Amino acid sequence: MMTSPKIIAGNWKMNGTAAFLKECLSYWQGLDLIHDLVICPPFTLLTEANKNIHLSKVSLGAQDCHQKPLGAFTGNISADQVKETGCSHVIIGHSERRQYHGENNDLVKVKAETAILSGLKPIICVGENLAEREQGSALEVLKNQIEECLPKSPEFLIAYEPVWAIGTGKAASLKDIEEVHSFLRRLIGPYIPLLYGGSVTLENYKEILLTNNVDGVLVGGASLKKEDFGRMLCDQ
Ligand code: 13P
Repeated sequence: MMTSPKIIAGNWKMNGTAAFLKECLSYWQGLDLIHDLVICPPFTLLTEANKNIHLSKVSLGAQDCHQKPLGAFTGNISADQVKETGCSHVIIGHSERRQYHGENNDLVKVKAETAILSGLKPIICVGENLAEREQGSALEVLKNQIEECLPKSPEFLIAYEPVWAIGTGKAASLKDIEEVHSFLRRLIGPYIPLLYGGSVTLENYKEILLTNNVDGVLVGGASLKKEDFGRMLCDQ
């Protein structure tokens, strides 16, 4: 069954070259896209990516931005600078930022507010870790993340990314995705897009997109496979 148009976001993390990006964009934009693509390469590729985006169904996202609008923060990138590259979106609070850069809910909220002020749509990531899932406290953890991370303005998306499903090849079951997404839907209301992320592949993306309250997917590893990702965008 063909799914209605959804958001397919590709998070390249710390991967990719300018040449590969150009090749992917030209390949994907030559296809008959059903879904909306948000491609999120590393900062260094954003300007080049923007030059090579020619379709309204394709937009650009960064993987992070700083919480302050500008200043003496060596090595960081501001939301305005991200916006200037041509981005419409920015991933905020990815579990890898939380794990390796000590980002907590309070910081995620400030970053999301800053991004919105700069005219970007944050894709705010939430998700429980394995111990929390095994203890049966996943929904409680998610409720807390939602309460603490969300900005006042509704100009954002949520990505549910269970930490134990990221890069492990073990996506959450459809039952778990459905349970969490309907729980999140009740918390955030009907209009905020809800994406699922964590080991989404060509094999499982269709049934995930057909799950209730799933408005799209946030794809890591499989977004670096040009043909596979292209087939996801075309719903093949
Ligand atoms: P994988 O699709 O590689 O599991 O990564 C998911 C992710 O972290 C997307 O942000």
